[in-house]
Amino acid sequence: MDAPVRSARPTPGQQALAEALARGEAALGKRVERVSADVYLDARRFEREQERLFGRLPLLLGPSALLPAANRAVAHDGYEVPLIVSRDGDGRVHVLANVCRHRGTRLLEGGEVVPALRIVCPYHAWTYKPDGRLLALPRAECFPWLDKADYALTRFPVVESGGLIWFGRSAETDFAPVEALSEDMDAFGLAGLHLYRRHAHAVAANWKLVIDAFLESYHVQRLHAATIAPFFADGITVADRIGPHQRAAVGRADYLAAMDRSDWAALRRAVTYTYHLFPNAVVVVSPDYINLLICLPQSVEQTLVEDVMLIPEAPATPQAEEHWRRSWELLDEGTFGGEDFRAAALCHQGLASGLVEEVTLGLLESGIAQFHALVDQALA
Ligand code: FES
Ligand SMILES: [Fe+2]
Repeated sequence: MDAPVRSARPTPGQQALAEALARGEAALGKRVERVSADVYLDARRFEREQERLFGRLPLLLGPSALLPAANRAVAHDGYEVPLIVSRDGDGRVHVLANVCRHRGTRLLEGGEVVPALRIVCPYHAWTYKPDGRLLALPRAECFPWLDKADYALTRFPVVESGGLIWFGRSAETDFAPVEALSEDMDAFGLAGLHLYRRHAHAVAANWKLVIDAFLESYHVQRLHAATIAPFFADGITVADRIGPHQRAAVGRADYLAAMDRSDWAALRRAVTYTYHLFPNAVVVVSPDYINLLICLPQSVEQTLVEDVMLIPEAPATPQAEEHWRRSWELLDEGTFGGEDFRAAALCHQGLASGLVEEVTLGLLESGIAQFHALVDQALA
């Protein structure tokens, strides 16, 4: 895996957003915009998204910390194809079809990380290396023509960069747009963080409604009144882009007083950075931990949202465990599960009634309009 990088300073882009916040700038759109309700409801459009976005772009599988050591593997089923994500003995990550080359049996069951010096098919025990090579098969004399080199598991292109693992369903996947994120992720030391917990939420909403909830701060003081609202100023956000990805800085409640722009740790306590990783993932950077949210569309109206929380190191004491458990519950259960995802599901219900034809986006919600414009471009 990547060498742990702990940057003592922000990237120029992160610094520029902090300076803009300090000057009192805000990411206000130029006009009220509208998105047709069909964008969230049309099953044919969903199929086109699967083909043009999810079939072609780099997709986030998880953080490097998902596979914290050599010879580990985990099954991944969120992207329509059954996958194994593995780390070989040299630390390299591979993404493989979770399908045996003998008679097509699924190899790894469940979704837990398992030791994977060998991956053994449960049916006839064909045995693979974590890089997908076929190592051995019982009664090999019964396959006299078989060359093991021709029977590796199907491999997908993969990149590990900035502490994140990406793959592509297409052999032609261009990873440059996600590699451009690594400088920002390295500034948060993402590659050296510890995976505290992960949990997949089943959300009864179109995947874009979940993303929309992370592209504006207009709702924070309202929807999150009972959870995180007291930590934030109202609608104090600036944003820019890294290619198709959106980067935002949100002012916390005391952000002006607390903002020491020469001290990265202090700046991270004054400003929450969030990233929309186009098309389907979000990074929320709290002062001392990070959440990754990955939207895995299951149908036009069903989305699995995997939430992964990353912390500086494994909790060493009961007090540390208690501290991180509270942070987990505040965000994963309270804020995301109980509020953002619930709002997305309620929004889907309302739109599915057919009683409104479009949603209206105010000046604080222009990030949503930008996201939908990029999806439209990719589908065109
Ligand atoms: S199906 Fe896997 S070994 Fe036979
Ligand atoms: Fe929210």
